[in-house]
Amino acid sequence: MPFYSKCLHTYLLSQIFLYLGYLCQGNLIIPDNMISNLPDRAPHLRLTREITVGKDNIYSLRDIESAANEKLDAGLRDYLNRGAQNEITLGANREVFNRYRIIPRYMVDVSKRNLTVQLFGETLPAPIGVSPFGRRHLFYKDGDYEVAIGAAKFGTVVGVSSGSSVTIEELAEREPNAMKWFQIFIFSDRNMTKDMAQRAERAGYKALVLTVDHNSGGIRYHDTKSVKVNNSDRANYRPYTGANKGIANDVTWDDVKWLKRQVQIPVVIKGVLTAGDARLAVNSGADAIFVSNHGGRQIDGVPATLEALPEIVSEVGREVDVYLDGGVRNGNDIFKALALGAKVVFVGRPAAWGLVYNGSEGVNTVLDILYKELDNVMAIAGTPTIRSISRSRVRSADDYRKGV
Ligand SMILES: Cc1cc2nc3c(=O)[nH]c(=O)nc-3n(C[C@H](O)[C@H](O)[C@H](O)COP(=O)(O)O)c2cc1C
Repeated sequence: MPFYSKCLHTYLLSQIFLYLGYLCQGNLIIPDNMISNLPDRAPHLRLTREITVGKDNIYSLRDIESAANEKLDAGLRDYLNRGAQNEITLGANREVFNRYRIIPRYMVDVSKRNLTVQLFGETLPAPIGVSPFGRRHLFYKDGDYEVAIGAAKFGTVVGVSSGSSVTIEELAEREPNAMKWFQIFIFSDRNMTKDMAQRAERAGYKALVLTVDHNSGGIRYHDTKSVKVNNSDRANYRPYTGANKGIANDVTWDDVKWLKRQVQIPVVIKGVLTAGDARLAVNSGADAIFVSNHGGRQIDGVPATLEALPEIVSEVGREVDVYLDGGVRNGNDIFKALALGAKVVFVGRPAAWGLVYNGSEGVNTVLDILYKELDNVMAIAGTPTIRSISRSRVRSADDYRKGV
């Protein structure tokens, strides 16, 4: 063999061994552009997505929260983090996660883990999504785009608030690859409602999220006076001159039936906290139920979302998907919500902290951390697939206290 081809041969072999070496250590660093091309059925490869986790000493959502809060002025910090009145529900959203214990079963083959879930026919890398929240542009330049990019990079769904600072169409044009759900209200002017819903459908949004717990804004004592809602930066409202742009106060479940007739895409009802409302929503045509209390920002004293989840799952869980948000701050929280019947779990404030911390990369880091933590607890608890996270995998801490 000529000398130069011997060299080439040796070089190629050494590269292959290097590559295999990385694989064996579980340290394979996959370039970003390859990650987006990974088949979703190769979630184990996503475990290598530690590119952003650990940067700047960011390992948990707590770290991201602190980093973000350091950057925010007091007004925006309160606007983002605080809740309604005495913040009982805001606190309860978190506390209730601590009232459940994870039940591990050991000696289970978890070598091939799969975190993927199907959502209206699309595959998500994990049951983790981004809730719709407004004022993204105040947290970071081009915040509406940045959140969509961060979610798309992770490969998951992003809720887009009707009050966003860019239009439905602008976001769709700039981020066509993001899986976008448009959050809508029933406005006093039903023509405006219908038009907005149909614009979202035309622009390729995959679902409408109808928020039902916000016909008036909650009373937030600590909320900033400096972040007054400025109609001019709610880009989607602009075309409706002369319309009554307020959120309607005369809404009934018939409006859900009506909204369903205006679009072909699924309609998700967000803000449900009781089995009774879940039943009425499904009977009115809802395609999924989103258990939420608006992150404790509306009525103070309503149940924490994890408290409300079981009765809703038992009422409608066999007919439609049930999602949850509120107080989710780590992978173990997600595990508990899944065990209690949620199909997908969403985060609001954590995505905003990620945005403040580092734009789309920060949002992606938040999702990566949650992914990594969920994968970790699944591995140790003996639940290699999402389906295997059954009801028996959590128990109320009270059961142990009572000795039952
Ligand atoms: C600053 C802020 C703005 C929000 N804006 C909206 C909104 O425009 N539409 C909506 O349906 N929910 C809105 N929400 C509620 C979120 O969608 C979500 O239900 C809540 O943040 C989940 O709780 P978490 O922040 O503890 O994850 C907002 C929440 C926050 C914190």
